Amino acid sequence: MRRAIFPGSFDPLTNGHLDIIKRSLPLFDEIVIAVLNNPEKEPMFSVEERCAIIDEVLPGVSNGDCQLVVDSFSGLTADFAQTKEAVAIIRGIRAVGDYEYELRMAMMNRRLQPEIETVFLTAAEEYSFVSSSLMKQVFELGGRVTGLVPTLVEERMRTKFNK
Ligand code: PNS
Repeated sequence: MRRAIFPGSFDPLTNGHLDIIKRSLPLFDEIVIAVLNNPEKEPMFSVEERCAIIDEVLPGVSNGDCQLVVDSFSGLTADFAQTKEAVAIIRGIRAVGDYEYELRMAMMNRRLQPEIETVFLTAAEEYSFVSSSLMKQVFELGGRVTGLVPTLVEERMRTKFNK
């Protein structure tokens, strides 16, 4: 059984995240979408809301033989991956600008848990500029994020901001 975790803030889930999840499906038997509970950040959605959104969106992803599970965690990603007996940590790379930060994280995670590999997957070109923070900023300033986040996410953002 090859389990991977896909850790992130997912505040909110974007179509870029979904693209990476879809690309990971053939590689693993189970993928745990691991939502970080980071008390230092003021999120748009609580961890519970983020997990609920992902839980609602995932049934729309045709996942073949791969199980998709949603969970949240605090503390180190490497420790969470080890607790889950994961063989890999999945991270998406949008453009070359992501690489340096991701490489540092991968090296640190390898030092913490040498048995667990970081697997980098490249997002589709159309999502190469999509980040949760950009989606939040554009939405809050009245811009359209249609097609860049799941419809459900857009609805929840609208409800949250009464737009
Ligand atoms: O979606 P993000 O914000 O790019 O995800 C970043 C995340 C959650 C993967 C990273 O911040 C993380 O792993 N945080 C948990 C704490 C940790 O393990 N820090 C050391 C990383 S080497």
